[in-house]
Amino acid sequence: MSARMTAVRDWLDARLRVSTLADAASHKTVPVHRYSVFYYLGGMTLFFFLVQVATGILLMLYYRPSADGAFESVEFLMTTVPFGWLLRSIHSWSANLMIYFAWVHLASVYFLKAYRPPRELTWVTGCILLFLAMGFGFSGYLLPWNQLAFFATRVGTDIAGVVPGVGEWVLRFLRGGDRVTGGTLSRFFGWHVAILPAIATLLLGVHLLLVQILGMSVPPKVESSAAPKRAMKFFPHFALRDLFGWIVALGVLAALAALIPWELGEKADPFAPAPAGIRPEWYFMFMFQTLKLVPGGKTLGLENEVYPILLFGVAALVLVLVPFLDRGVARIGRSPLFTAAGVVGLVYVVGMTAWGYGSLVPVYVVAGTAALVYLLALVTGPRRAEGRP
Ligand code: HEM
Repeated sequence: MSARMTAVRDWLDARLRVSTLADAASHKTVPVHRYSVFYYLGGMTLFFFLVQVATGILLMLYYRPSADGAFESVEFLMTTVPFGWLLRSIHSWSANLMIYFAWVHLASVYFLKAYRPPRELTWVTGCILLFLAMGFGFSGYLLPWNQLAFFATRVGTDIAGVVPGVGEWVLRFLRGGDRVTGGTLSRFFGWHVAILPAIATLLLGVHLLLVQILGMSVPPKVESSAAPKRAMKFFPHFALRDLFGWIVALGVLAALAALIPWELGEKADPFAPAPAGIRPEWYFMFMFQTLKLVPGGKTLGLENEVYPILLFGVAALVLVLVPFLDRGVARIGRSPLFTAAGVVGLVYVVGMTAWGYGSLVPVYVVAGTAALVYLLALVTGPRRAEGRP
């Protein structure tokens, strides 16, 4: 390094203390065991989040949030702006991949019991991030103001309105009135590009800070095994592997976006009859399908639909509180009941999604993900000769 460069580095270091950060990074390590592959899943979710921020900002340069301008502005982007179609396609595919990886990341930290003390708050912030990600999806779906999105939003917000007591208020709060109108679109735009990103960025900062402070957890089975504990340096070894994963993800994302471009459909017509096949995004399908199975009528003075809606609310709360409810894992490092509950929950969500679509594709996707993660665990884990824990 030249004397001038050294002088610039020293000048910056005296003011920004970069060397303290570099020093901390050089000491950070990541445990190496047969489940280490799970440590890449949060980073993968983060990658798609960053893609969303970058492409979302570019989309905003063209998008107009009004009932008579939204569809046309997206159409202009897709037909006239160079690579505009690709930009929108990347944003839409990456949104779905981000939510999918957030679910996979949740499942991995759940089954490896990474939420046990002292990582309860990492779990809680993660859960809220997942709910926010679904909120991003729900609010973003309406923005192109096309037929399918318009009616799906009407159905989705109608469901919120069923809840006794607060339902009517929630419905009006979401729609900005009694009906889905241009006002709803402006409101969803506000949530999508300002409120949700602000909360998500803050929470993500806390989530990542907690991961830095607490370090990576080691699964109870590995912790209690007699095999010697191994670790690799975060920088550069783990960071480079993470980067490799991000490059592969970018390739897959670009291929999906280019080969299966996101469609726009027809402009929303609030006075047209609801088109056939109205359905929500895949991550809401298990709830939608459950509601479809409920027979009409009332029980104990309440619409039958209210019961599953309330149950989903309770299930979300229980999910957030898992680290505080699972006392066994904190005491004896085992909690088979929670593992079994996780399996039942997973089978329910995947089964209902498959039923909703009338297709086995959701089952194949989940089975394929599990097989891929298993394969990667074999490739990236310690060699047998080095002693698997
Ligand atoms: C939606 C955006 C999310 C992002 C960007 C994100 C990001 C990350 C990253 C980068 C890590 C460190 C690497 C790793 O362990 O994978 C991590 C760890 C962790 N995350 Fe997330 N996460 C998200 C959602 C979630 C969700 C939904 C949960 C579960 C409810 C969760 C719970 C955790 C826990 C408990 C850890 C610590 C894992 C350990 O120490 O072994 N996160 N997250």
